[in-house]
Amino acid sequence: MKVLLVHAHPEQTSMTCHLVGIAIEVLKAQGHGIMQSDLYGMNWKAVFDGRDFPSRVNQDRLSFIDESGHAFANGCQTPDVEQEQRKILAADAVILLFPLWWFGMPAIMKGWVDRVWAFGLAYGYEGAGNAYRYGEGGFAGKRALLAVCVGGPAQDYSARGINGPLEQLLFPITHGTLFFPGMQVLPTFAVYGSGRLDAEGAADAAAAWRRRLERLFEDQPIAFRPQNGGDYPDHHVLADHIATDRTGLMAHIAD
Ligand SMILES: Cc1cc2nc3c(=O)[nH]c(=O)nc-3n(C[C@H](O)[C@H](O)[C@H](O)COP(=O)(O)O)c2cc1C
Repeated sequence: MKVLLVHAHPEQTSMTCHLVGIAIEVLKAQGHGIMQSDLYGMNWKAVFDGRDFPSRVNQDRLSFIDESGHAFANGCQTPDVEQEQRKILAADAVILLFPLWWFGMPAIMKGWVDRVWAFGLAYGYEGAGNAYRYGEGGFAGKRALLAVCVGGPAQDYSARGINGPLEQLLFPITHGTLFFPGMQVLPTFAVYGSGRLDAEGAADAAAAWRRRLERLFEDQPIAFRPQNGGDYPDHHVLADHIATDRTGLMAHIAD
């Protein structure tokens, strides 16, 4: 299998980079091929702007969606974006590794998504509007996994913890960014208190990470409900008889 590791941390001694190193070692030992995107190391352009469209359709008004669709369809995206899309399309699994910054991914990684998730590929797939989304689309058949270094303690992210549960905080990434274009998303791997781990804590985190990597192609993905699986009869809203006791984000995960 081929695995793409995308990470966002400039410091080699960080826990994030440590997890990247372990992933390379474990996945190679399993015989998988590795591709990497070290976003700081690549000096990745984080900001999605007019420079992303060297051959504009409309010079008068910058419509990101229109220009993204045109650039993707006509082979006039920037080379850095094309290269990342090639890597994802070649990958059987994509692992995003990052420190939790303000309850999300660092801007450089958000900018990677903004720029690489082109219209016609990750959304508006096949020119069919929203016909293919949530479980189907340009990245269908690939697995995705987040490995997140969390500064705060696990209690703060527990079911009634003050920050809110991590799986809900990361829902816009797992569901909105990865499942939307069709990836099967595995439960997030998190290292809590990652800035202040002692040697034992770091060793425990490394061992847990190894176990997750070894099961990358075996673990059950999060049971997000696919748009076209019948739970959303009008492709917008859950049917009345589904998850009757639930509203909000968690209603979109099957029991
Ligand atoms: C800009 C910034 C924002 C942060 N936001 C959060 C946060 O929302 N929640 C949290 O638990 N820790 C937060 N932290 C702490 C980081 O998650 C922590 O420093 C990091 O996981 C340490 O691991 P590293 O060695 O890989 O950087 C933040 C740190 C920075 C610098």
